[in-house]
Amino acid sequence: MTGKFITFEGGEGTGKSTQARLLASHLEQSGMQVVLTREPGGAPGAEVIRDLLVNGEPDRWSPMAEALLFNAARVEHWRQCIEPALKSGTHVVCDRFADSTMAYQGYVGGLTREAMAQLHWLALGDARPDLTLILDMPAEAGLERAANRREGENRFELKGEAFHAKLREAFLDIARRESNRCVVIDAARAMDQVHSEVLTAVHTRLGI
Ligand code: TMP
Repeated sequence: MTGKFITFEGGEGTGKSTQARLLASHLEQSGMQVVLTREPGGAPGAEVIRDLLVNGEPDRWSPMAEALLFNAARVEHWRQCIEPALKSGTHVVCDRFADSTMAYQGYVGGLTREAMAQLHWLALGDARPDLTLILDMPAEAGLERAANRREGENRFELKGEAFHAKLREAFLDIARRESNRCVVIDAARAMDQVHSEVLTAVHTRLGI
């Protein structure tokens, strides 16, 4: 029996990390084995690459260099953490995955969908999430939340409002194209309301 692979996606400050944590605890409390992880990161080499990506000047990398670095981190994360867990029957809840590369570096960075899909194929073949929860809210509100939340690791937050408004549209377009895999959740509401919608989506789509 293989575990289910569930990813959270969305713009800055949409509450992905909180919702991923709440879902992982809920599944665990229901007696399931769960790994909670995040991208970029989740494996030693991937954490080193994370540092290169989330710190420094906003224009430090070209979109293609970024896409290659995110995919390099993802290969390590997949091989060392996600794939072994799924094979052992453990569910994996992941804060961001390949849709973030498609949205940030592809749609907003100006690289084509085809180029991003080819890179993904080279890195991971046909590996993809069983379910992706896209947390959606207006970009300004998300950026405000993100700015209040933490210091540092803000390279992408500094890219400006136009960037983040495009990003929201990018995630919504991905959800429209892959409606079998993706569920859009209104993240502008209270945390517990969002959590209960997440649980409903997981139950309806995956039966867990
Ligand atoms: P986080 O803020 O959710 O921890 O993610 C780190 C940043 O990296 C966030 O601003 C989004 C960005 N990112 C990409 O641009 N492409 C990717 O493939 C991933 C996984 C994250």
